[in-house]
Amino acid sequence: MPSFELPDAVAILKADGQRVVDYFRAFLARHTSAPPRLLESIDYSMSAGGKRLRPAMVLETWRACGGLDGSASAPSALSAATAMELIHTFSLVHDDLPAMDDDDLRRGRPTNHKVYGDAMAILAGDAMTTMAFDLIATDAEPAKSTALIRELARASGPEGMIGGQVLDMEGEKQSLTLPQLQQLHRMKTGALLTAACRMGAIAAGADEITLSAVTDCGRHLGLAFQIVDDVLDVTSSPEQMGKATGKDHAKGKNTYPSLLGLEQSKVEAHGHLRLALQAINLLGEPAKGLIALSRFVVEREL
Ligand code: IPE
Ligand code: IPE
Ligand code: MG
Ligand code: MG
Ligand code: MG
Repeated sequence: MPSFELPDAVAILKADGQRVVDYFRAFLARHTSAPPRLLESIDYSMSAGGKRLRPAMVLETWRACGGLDGSASAPSALSAATAMELIHTFSLVHDDLPAMDDDDLRRGRPTNHKVYGDAMAILAGDAMTTMAFDLIATDAEPAKSTALIRELARASGPEGMIGGQVLDMEGEKQSLTLPQLQQLHRMKTGALLTAACRMGAIAAGADEITLSAVTDCGRHLGLAFQIVDDVLDVTSSPEQMGKATGKDHAKGKNTYPSLLGLEQSKVEAHGHLRLALQAINLLGEPAKGLIALSRFVVEREL
């Protein structure tokens, strides 16, 4: 147990999430010559809510590494956080398409393609990707923007989230072993969460030891996050989650509960939380927001 008091994770998500939404809205307003319906479709999914965990992780890791509001590094952290949420939201819009998980409900609303059609949902996702990199290139400190862009590109690319989504789709036809499932989860979900931590540290100008500590933390949290997502698909409801539940089994997805059972899956998630917290122990009190978010990853019910 830390010797300092931990803030409330939900309050952090709300405050950091609001900053990111405000920042995104201002950025969107700069796109004056884009087709209005494209912007509407992007805004529909970005403003729908969601937990905004990844951008909050960027900002709280930045704070854990000494980042201060109003300082020179704040635009780097805020643009990185907003870009992260754009990439994550693009991944959800595409994940829900009929060609992938074929879902009708997301963030408590009809999915993007249900409202705007498949073609617009594909194009909105494409545009969110390019906007993410534009945002960092335009607003982050020049000395940090290349490293931030590289992190986000690699984490979302063929060896990260997109590659993981491919393994997820291919895995529907076969039973994976635990190491194979771990690799799938590390790529489709873990890579972005790890990048969230790393980008926060890079924005703060952290040294190598600190960067390596938050990388370890992000790796464990990333895996824990998807284990919990798999568990909640079995134990939760669409009302609670804002998305369909019970579908992994129906679609023949490889999940932690299907391989290890519910109880052992929860034990695994808590094990990864413990290791994540151990990794950032050296950061002390400035990491209190990051610690609170880490616990939320495993203890959440939404
Ligand atoms: C859902 O992510 C997709 C996964 C990686 C499992 P979240 O549960 O963070 O979705 P939002 O952002 O809160 O909607
Ligand atoms: C999706 O995993 C992960 C990404 C979008 C990269 P899931 O398919 O399990 O996410 P949900 O459950 O639909 O949110
Ligand atoms: Mg999926
Ligand atoms: Mg899905
Ligand atoms: Mg899921």
